[in-house]
Amino acid sequence: VTTFGAVLVAAGSGERLGAAVPKALVTLRGTPLVCLALDALVDAGATDVVVVVPPTHREQVAALLPRSGPPCTVVDGGRTRTESVRAGLAGLPSAVTVVAVHDAARALMPAATVRTTVAAVTGDVVAAAPALPVPDTLKRVADGQIVATVDRDDLVAVQTPQVFRRSVLEAAHLEGGDATDDLALVERLVAAGVVDGRLVVTAGSPLGLKITYPHDLVVAAALQEGRA
Ligand code: CTP
Ligand code: MG
Repeated sequence: VTTFGAVLVAAGSGERLGAAVPKALVTLRGTPLVCLALDALVDAGATDVVVVVPPTHREQVAALLPRSGPPCTVVDGGRTRTESVRAGLAGLPSAVTVVAVHDAARALMPAATVRTTVAAVTGDVVAAAPALPVPDTLKRVADGQIVATVDRDDLVAVQTPQVFRRSVLEAAHLEGGDATDDLALVERLVAAGVVDGRLVVTAGSPLGLKITYPHDLVVAAALQEGRA
C-alpha cells in the first residue's frame, strides 16, 4: 500500500453556486461539502491532510474538522485554484512523498476511487486521476457556427483526486503558471522533457461530480440518498 498525504482545496467562493456562504460550507443533508470530501480522503488512508480555506472562514472551517484521525491542518487559500494548491503543498510534512489533490466541490467521491487512484501511482507512473467517458457529442464552434464534430473516442472528463509523486507536482508548481487542474501543469513538464514518467487515468465515479451550479446540488443530494 502506498501512503499518501492530501491537499483538499476548499478556498473558492462558489460564485456560480450563488450560496450565502463559500461553497465548501454549503451542506448536503446537514454536512458541509468540505467535511464530506475530507471523509473520503481519511477513509482512503491519508496520513496527513491540509485543508485550504478562504481566509475569511479559517476559524469556521477549522472548528468543523475531526479531532481524531490523521493530522489535519488548515491554511489560507489564494486567488486562484492553482495558488491554493501551492499553499496546501507547502503545508504538507516533508515525509509525504505521494500527494492527492482533491476538490471540496467533489464532495461525494468514494474512498474506493481515491484508493484505486493512489495505488496507480507506482513504478514509472508519476500521476493518476479518475476519469469518465464523455457521453455527449462534441462540436467545435466559432462565432456560434458549427465547424466540426470532435471525435470523442480519445476524450475523457477528469475528476479529482489527482494523485502525484510529490517531487513532480512540486516541480510543476515551481514553474509557476495557472491551470484549471494540476495534471495540466505536469503535462507541460512532460511535454518539455523535464519530467519523464507516465500520467494515467483510473475509473472515475459518477459520485465524483463537481458541484458547480445549483442544479448540481440537487443531483448530488439524490446520489447521496442512493448511496446511503
Ligand atoms: N478553489 C480554491 N481556491 C480558489 C479557487 C477554487 O481552493 N481560489 C477550490 C474550490 O474551493 C473548489 C475547487 O477549487 O473546491 C474547484 O473550484 P470551483 O469548483 O471552480 O469552485 P469555486 O471557485 O469556489 O466556484 P466558482 O468558480 O463558481 O466561484
Ligand atoms: Mg472557480
